Amino acid sequence: MRSTLLALPFIGSALAARPFVNEPATGIEELFDSLPAGNLVPLNQIVALHDFDYAARKFLIPANYTYYRNGAGGEWSYRNNLEVFQRYRLRPRVMLDVTGVEATLPTTILGYNFSAPFFICPASRAANGNPTEVERGLVEGAAAGGILYNQAGYSDLSVEEVGEIAAKNNQTFFRQIYLTGNDTTDKTAFNRAKAAGAKAIIWTVDSAADGVRHRAARYSMGSANGGFSLQTWGEYKKYKTWTDLPIVLKGIQTVEDAQEAVANGADAIWLSNHGGRQVDGSPSSLEVALEIHQEAPEVFKQIEVYADGGVRYGSDVLKLLALGVRAVGLGRPFMYANVYGTEGVKHLIKLLKNEIINDAGNAGIADLHNISPRAINWNVNHWYS
Ligand code: LAC
Repeated sequence: MRSTLLALPFIGSALAARPFVNEPATGIEELFDSLPAGNLVPLNQIVALHDFDYAARKFLIPANYTYYRNGAGGEWSYRNNLEVFQRYRLRPRVMLDVTGVEATLPTTILGYNFSAPFFICPASRAANGNPTEVERGLVEGAAAGGILYNQAGYSDLSVEEVGEIAAKNNQTFFRQIYLTGNDTTDKTAFNRAKAAGAKAIIWTVDSAADGVRHRAARYSMGSANGGFSLQTWGEYKKYKTWTDLPIVLKGIQTVEDAQEAVANGADAIWLSNHGGRQVDGSPSSLEVALEIHQEAPEVFKQIEVYADGGVRYGSDVLKLLALGVRAVGLGRPFMYANVYGTEGVKHLIKLLKNEIINDAGNAGIADLHNISPRAINWNVNHWYS
C-alpha cells in the first residue's frame, strides 16, 4: 500500500503531456500580447532569438509568416529540431580559465574568414518578411556582423545584385542553386554565381520530391521548389566539371551519406533536414552529427561539416560544435529578424555571439575550436525524448 502511494506522483508526471512551446517564455508576451497585429515590437525589446519569431508572427500577415514557419506533415521534425537540444545536458566543468573564449569566436569556412561559427542559411522568398528591402538587410547585416551569407536559390535579388553589395562590403557569400535538370540553364546558373563573386555553390540534396506541407497548403504558400529533382552522385560529378567553385552538399541526414560524400570527393557537407520542411520524421542535424560521431568520427576530420535546424541558443551551437561541426546555420530566426531589416539582422548576430561566449564560459569551455564531446552528456534525458 505504502509503495503504491509513493509511486503515484511519479506515474502522474510520467503520464502528464508536455506541451510544445514554439517560444519558451521570455516575458515578451506579458508586455506585447495586447499590441495589435501588424505592429512591430521595438527592437530593443528583442532579447532572445525566439523573440524574433514572436515579433514576426505579430507583424506579418499570416500567409507570409506561414511560409517561413511551416514544416512538413504533422511538424514533428520541426518541433524535434527545436527540442532535441534539451535532450542532452551540458556537463559544465569549473575552475578553468575561460576568460579568453571570445577571442576564439572567429573561424574559417572553406578557407574564408568569419567572425563567428554561425551563418545565414539560404531561405527563399525574403520578400515575405520584408517586401521593400527584400534580402538587402540579410546581406548587409551579415557583412556588418562578419558572418557568412548564403543566398537562397529562390531569392528576391539576383545573384548579381547580391554580388554588388558583397563587393562593396568586401564580403564573402555563397550561392544556393536549385538545379532544373536542363544542362544549359543549370550551367548558366553556375557561371552567373561565379561571375557575381559567389565563392561556393550550395546544392540542396534533401528535396528530391516536394515537401508535404499542410500549414502552408492552407495559404497556398508551399515550397518554392516543388516537384521531383534528379539528385545522384553522378549528377554531383557532372556539376563538378562545370565549375571550379566548391560545391557544398546541403541536406545530409545519415552517416552513410556523409561517408559517401567523402568517398565521392565532396567539398563539404551540411547536415540539415531543411528545417523539417521536406519530410516529417527526418532527423535533426544534432542527431545526425551524433550518429557520425558514434559511427564514423573520422568524417569530421576528412571534410568540413556544417549543420542547421532549430538553433536558437548559444548552448545549441556549443552542442553541435562539440561533435565536430565547424559552423552552424540559422534560417527562420534570420528571416524573422529581417522584418526589421539590417538592424534586426545585426541585432541577432550580436545576441547570438554574446550567448555563445557566455554559455561557453559557464560550461567551462575555454576554446570554441576545441570543445570536448564530454562537455555534453549524450545520454538521453527522457523528459524530452
Ligand atoms: C522551401 C525551399 C524553397 O523550403 O527551400 O520553401
